[in-house]
Amino acid sequence: MIEIHGYAIVSDDDRIADAEGRMPEALRSEADWAYFQAELDRSAATVLGRLGHEAHPNPRGRLRIVVSSSVPGLERRADGWWWNPEAKPWEDAVRTILPAGGRIAVPGGRRVFDLFLAIGYTAFHLTRAEGVRIPGGVALFSACDRGASAEAVLGGAGLVPGERQILDPRGPVTLNIWSRA
Ligand SMILES: NC(=O)c1ccc[n+]([C@@H]2O[C@H](COP(=O)([O-])OP(=O)(O)OC[C@H]3O[C@@H](n4cnc5c(N)ncnc54)[C@H](OP(=O)(O)O)[C@@H]3O)[C@@H](O)[C@H]2O)c1
Repeated sequence: MIEIHGYAIVSDDDRIADAEGRMPEALRSEADWAYFQAELDRSAATVLGRLGHEAHPNPRGRLRIVVSSSVPGLERRADGWWWNPEAKPWEDAVRTILPAGGRIAVPGGRRVFDLFLAIGYTAFHLTRAEGVRIPGGVALFSACDRGASAEAVLGGAGLVPGERQILDPRGPVTLNIWSRA
């Protein structure tokens, strides 16, 4: 049994990074980081894009699945499993990586969020830095660039929102966990 949990912190206009593809200070939240780290501790593996993998060291040695077009399928390397979704279906890859099942954390970026939208999230942990706008920034999902809100995309994927939780009253920074009905 595999559970897939997405994690993102977004602005009011559903952006995960600025126009240059960098994460702006306005999207950094200690409370969200602490929440995210605790969630990673509950996960059997983390799936992230190659750039995110290269940008973020892995001091705790958590099991990573690195999405990249540079590998022919699925490849075990010292720094984790490298996976090319064009070359090997998710079901095959995850059966090899976690034969006993488990919880998967998906922290993006955008193409990885899109990829798992099609595969199917069990839940999506949507943190919002309220009051922040990042015009021209990188969207959470590519559909957000075509005018859809994050909520509409998650709802369209069969997820329903939970209660709005306040992670940090400054801002505020809020969390809503969308899950299967
Ligand atoms: N606010 C948030 O919650 C949040 C979350 C995630 C990221 N970010 C920020 O967003 C910014 C941009 O991240 P990013 O999207 O550029 O980087 P990324 O997703 O970490 O990495 C992109 C790379 O991942 C690989 N990849 C992704 N999807 C793939 C697919 N379907 N098939 C094959 N390869 C795939 C490609 O690698 P190859 O080139 O090797 O093929 C691609 O170049 C960063 O500043 C990051 O900090 C913010």
